[in-house]
Amino acid sequence: MEASQNLLQTPANFMKVDSLSQECENLISSLPSEKDFMGKNLYSYQGSWYYPSTLQAILNFQKHFRARDSDIILASFPKSGTTWLKALVFAVVHRNKYAPNLVSHPLLSDNPHNLVRFIELDLYVKNQRPDLEELPSPRLFATHMPFQTLHDSLRDSPCKVVYMCRNIKDVLVSRWHFRSNVVRKELYSNYSLEDMVDDFIKGVYSLGPFDDQVLRYWKESLVNSNPVLFMRYEEMIEKPEVQVMRLADFLGCSFTEEEKQSGTVEKILELCSFGNLSNLETNKTGTSVCGVAPHAFFRRGGVGDWKNHLTHEMARKLDEMVEKKLGGSGLKFE
Ligand code: A3P
Repeated sequence: MEASQNLLQTPANFMKVDSLSQECENLISSLPSEKDFMGKNLYSYQGSWYYPSTLQAILNFQKHFRARDSDIILASFPKSGTTWLKALVFAVVHRNKYAPNLVSHPLLSDNPHNLVRFIELDLYVKNQRPDLEELPSPRLFATHMPFQTLHDSLRDSPCKVVYMCRNIKDVLVSRWHFRSNVVRKELYSNYSLEDMVDDFIKGVYSLGPFDDQVLRYWKESLVNSNPVLFMRYEEMIEKPEVQVMRLADFLGCSFTEEEKQSGTVEKILELCSFGNLSNLETNKTGTSVCGVAPHAFFRRGGVGDWKNHLTHEMARKLDEMVEKKLGGSGLKFE
């Protein structure tokens, strides 16, 4: 299938409302609900807004998931650099099994979203009770769920959580491009970038609100006893070596002096770089991931593209909202 045709597919988590369990139907009938820009219902559950099929997957997860202490969970708000984080963590954790190189590494033939799968948008959508017991340790998973929903389901397991955060304005612009690429364009014809800004300010949109999610993970990362590492996309761009070493330290697999001397850190960064991943055949034309053509996860990367898209007024509104929500928390977006 042509990549451009692939883009027209509907993401699996987006609108599928068949096969909801009675439990999910009952829950939905008790939850606050709002319409999205297409008139589809969104439901607020444990502080975040979901379409019914995602909610069903979350219930499946909460009921059936059994954490292992060695599990590693990558959390983020969509468009914060999840794909990059997945690639990096996979490469770092498995570097003894798969030497980082540009010749024969799983990341060269498979999309990061297939190597580290989403809990609520993939594993538990396709299967009410996926068999995760056979997976070797450490198991890697990813999620866009807020801390409270994830944490409850881990049932006090000390497994590690890495959170990737990105400037809200770049997240919004990235989401805008992603959405208008993966969702049929005609659905977007009456929905402007300004509407998306207003939705962010109101806080009602799928998997949002961004600011509540970021703030909670930030606060949890400051509690010493919590195994939560807070990473920032902008810091990854600015000082990738430092950040990858920090990541490896947190995951309990620090780089040895020998690895540092022999350039392992740089090789991992090169393997996971935007330039390398976005040019791989598998990520240009490969089969879709969660209903999304893989190339939609790579647009341009980098910091500050919002300046090319948001008006002063839109940026001002977002800054004001962030200041109101995050002011005093110590978390700032430059
Ligand atoms: P832009 O749309 O600003 O280019 P997510 O992975 O959470 O969906 O986030 C997607 C964003 O991360 C997109 O941002 C995408 O281009 C960028 N991205 C994907 N892979 C990357 C990489 N290896 N390095 C840096 N940025 C990357």
